[in-house]
Amino acid sequence: MSILKSFIVFEGLDGAGTTTQARNLARYYEFNSRAYFATAEPTSNPIGKLVREVLQKKVTTTPEALAYLYAADRSDHLYNPTYGIARILQEGRVVISDRYFYSSLAYQGVECDIDLVRTINAFPHPEALIFIDTPVEDCLERIERRGEEKELFDRENFLRAVRNNYLEELKRLPDEVNVLVVDGRKSIEETESEIRRFLSSISL
Ligand code: TYD
Repeated sequence: MSILKSFIVFEGLDGAGTTTQARNLARYYEFNSRAYFATAEPTSNPIGKLVREVLQKKVTTTPEALAYLYAADRSDHLYNPTYGIARILQEGRVVISDRYFYSSLAYQGVECDIDLVRTINAFPHPEALIFIDTPVEDCLERIERRGEEKELFDRENFLRAVRNNYLEELKRLPDEVNVLVVDGRKSIEETESEIRRFLSSISL
């Protein structure tokens, strides 16, 4: 079982607050002059751009092909010789990612065969996984308030299935992964300090 040390991943449903918490953690490291790199999936690299075009319905494909695209984007994100996370970690920086392969298990797991999704996502686990567990109703409300154009995944039943998949995957994690499940209904500040306490308890 391989673990990427100093790699921190945020996961949750759309609207759960992963982007805000990942950004605030990056700010905290910045403030403390800690060497870090903040990133997200889908990435803004060429394969990630193609993924977004599928989400925006500019490009049509099958759920399986989309699953492969997410996995390809992730492989590039990890191992690209120029900007890959593996290299950045080797340089001694902490890497924070807003989403990782657990998103594929949870989201693509709804429409594709889960064994296929697992097989194409046999990537190393991060040292720390923070799951922001926000009820589907609250996520939908936040998405609506943002006035975001509804992408493929902003549907209630779909999000319920995604949440169940996340909870299922959390049970299957190897012991070496440090996991924090935070209640996403708490205030941004409360969640933020809970995350910091958790990370400092594992020296991150
Ligand atoms: P998201 O983090 O919401 O991007 P943004 O903040 O730019 O809106 O990711 C876009 C969508 O992609 C989101 O609905 C979750 C989904 N997704 C998957 O289905 N599988 C994956 O592997 C990843 C990384 C994301």
